[in-house]
Amino acid sequence: MTGSELTAAPIADAMRLAMAQAELALGATSPNPPVGAVILDPDGVVVGVGHTQPAGGAHAEVMALRAAGDRARGGTAVVTLEPCNHTGRTPPCVDALLVAGVRVVAYAVPDPGAREGGGGARLAERGVRTIAGLLAADASGGAIRWWLQAQQRCRPFVLWKFASTLDGRVAAADGSSRWISSVQSRADVQVLRGQLDAIMVGVGTVIADNPALTARDRAGQLTGRQPLRVVLDRSGRIPPDSQVLDGAATTMVVNEPTPAAVLSALWDRGIRSVLLEGGPTVAGAFLQAGCIDEVVAYLAPKLLGAGPLSLADTGITTILDAVELDLIDVRRIGSDVRLVATVRVTPAGNEFAR
Ligand SMILES: NC(=O)c1ccc[n+]([C@@H]2O[C@H](COP(=O)([O-])OP(=O)(O)OC[C@H]3O[C@@H](n4cnc5c(N)ncnc54)[C@H](OP(=O)(O)O)[C@@H]3O)[C@@H](O)[C@H]2O)c1
Repeated sequence: MTGSELTAAPIADAMRLAMAQAELALGATSPNPPVGAVILDPDGVVVGVGHTQPAGGAHAEVMALRAAGDRARGGTAVVTLEPCNHTGRTPPCVDALLVAGVRVVAYAVPDPGAREGGGGARLAERGVRTIAGLLAADASGGAIRWWLQAQQRCRPFVLWKFASTLDGRVAAADGSSRWISSVQSRADVQVLRGQLDAIMVGVGTVIADNPALTARDRAGQLTGRQPLRVVLDRSGRIPPDSQVLDGAATTMVVNEPTPAAVLSALWDRGIRSVLLEGGPTVAGAFLQAGCIDEVVAYLAPKLLGAGPLSLADTGITTILDAVELDLIDVRRIGSDVRLVATVRVTPAGNEFAR
């Protein structure tokens, strides 16, 4: 069997492998998307895999082609995003695929970029059999999901994370908020921190908890890539000895932080995803501005009955105006329950379109 005659099965398997590759690129590629690629030789054997390198480095297709070498000729390239047709900091991936002599290119998600898109059509014009939309729903719900939503909204994707008791308290009345959630939940948050481009808090959280806001491994060591730390501080209240100012990672202290302004500034800096770690005042402001896209909540089986709630005033007074979310994942993690829910798009969520 040759590359152009391969059945769908090995190509679909290769797409799943490419999606797993894309996961490895999460958090390290912005403003470029995290993409995975697999090269099959003409007999359908996997001869190369790759994922997007940090911005300015090789794209996934190029990494996979490098691994495949001459075995790519006459074979199939399987990519989670349409190969780019644009010269940015690297040459177009379409050219690399043509030079390598692949006969078939299968991709999952069309590239939404006006400059980068059109790669599939150009490959087809050059006689390459092109399969568009393979496992598109799975791939667009995978590693590339946050980047795709950022492109649609023209602002970074915002994931609001909080840990609370079952009665919704994020801290006790005496101000202690450490150890609300289990050790496993806290380890999960460390993984998340490594997957998004920036971590954001209000100055109230810095004053109350003095968090480091770094990504650390299971041994507590800093991981190789650190997200940008962002502190919203309108009146210069950040204590100079705060851990976020310790130099372990880059920190941006923003003093004109309407949600729209801060997200625009982060977009211009190449940030495509933000983990909003609170606290309740800033979360309320971002929700009210239509600037929260997804929520991850760690609910601990504890009750307090007093202390700040996860969300401060959003200006919503009637149930008809409640922000609607769609639950996309529920799992038990340590002694807690972790919920992930997407916020249904509101008109305010489109205010960044430009
Ligand atoms: N369990 C959890 O998941 C969790 C997470 C985070 C925090 N917490 C707890 O939450 C409590 C702190 O709550 P908090 O509400 O004070 O924290 P916060 O939301 O992190 O900080 C609020 C402060 O941010 C500043 N800010 C800057 N830009 C803002 C904007 N656009 N909109 C609103 N505020 C803006 C304001 O101070 P200025 O006006 O001076 O700029 C405001 O007082 C602590 O007890 C902490 O332990 C818990």
